[in-house]
Amino acid sequence: MKKLIAGNWKMNLGRNDAGNLARNLAEKAAQANDKYELILCPPSVWLTDVADAIKGSAVKLGAQDVHEQDKGAFTGNLSANMLKEAGAAYALIGHSERRQYHREDNVLIKSKAENAIKNGLIPIICVGEVEEDRNAGRQNEVVGQQIAESLPASGEFVVAYEPVWAIGTGKTATPEDVRAMHAFIRSALAKAVDRAEQVAILYGGSVKAANAPEILATPNVDGVLVGGASLDEKEFWAIAQAA
Ligand code: 13P
Repeated sequence: MKKLIAGNWKMNLGRNDAGNLARNLAEKAAQANDKYELILCPPSVWLTDVADAIKGSAVKLGAQDVHEQDKGAFTGNLSANMLKEAGAAYALIGHSERRQYHREDNVLIKSKAENAIKNGLIPIICVGEVEEDRNAGRQNEVVGQQIAESLPASGEFVVAYEPVWAIGTGKTATPEDVRAMHAFIRSALAKAVDRAEQVAILYGGSVKAANAPEILATPNVDGVLVGGASLDEKEFWAIAQAA
């Protein structure tokens, strides 16, 4: 399986910087290769700019969120169809920042994922425990429940494991933490869906060029979801080269 190297730009970069970063990465990743696929998830207001910048290259576009309904009176939201039309192939769903600041729960995340699939997007469904759960040794229980309740019943999707305490903190999970959790997620997937071995499981949380080789070499790690380091062209490119 190709490694997925996804950059979540979150609420960062102005229009020029977004376009330039995407254009430069698209130049470097002009041709598809069998090692990795690059995915850029810019703020939605720049989706079409980034789509133009990566046109003709092997770089793919992702949204950072998607609404669970097809259309209607939902002020401020974007439907899967709109994102698809803007050029997105993927959509992050249930990122811990959406769970925390927008009170998204597993039920909502599942319906967003199902609607995304129905409209031809590949959801990247995020799971991960907070520090308190990790300290209490409850990480498998929490992530197991997120997997059981937020995954769509069928269709193609990706899972991203992002321990909340490792996001933007510089604290990375140890290689053993990552190995154990990804193995746990693989077995939880086997209970929840058909063809669990074909679901890509990404790791996210303070991934950098320096730790990417070890993380990407861990069994059941099929890619990375990168926040801060994806805003830096050299760092992000170096992470891709570690695949
Ligand atoms: P950082 O790489 O900045 O820790 O963010 C991870 C993340 O939340 C990606 O979605």
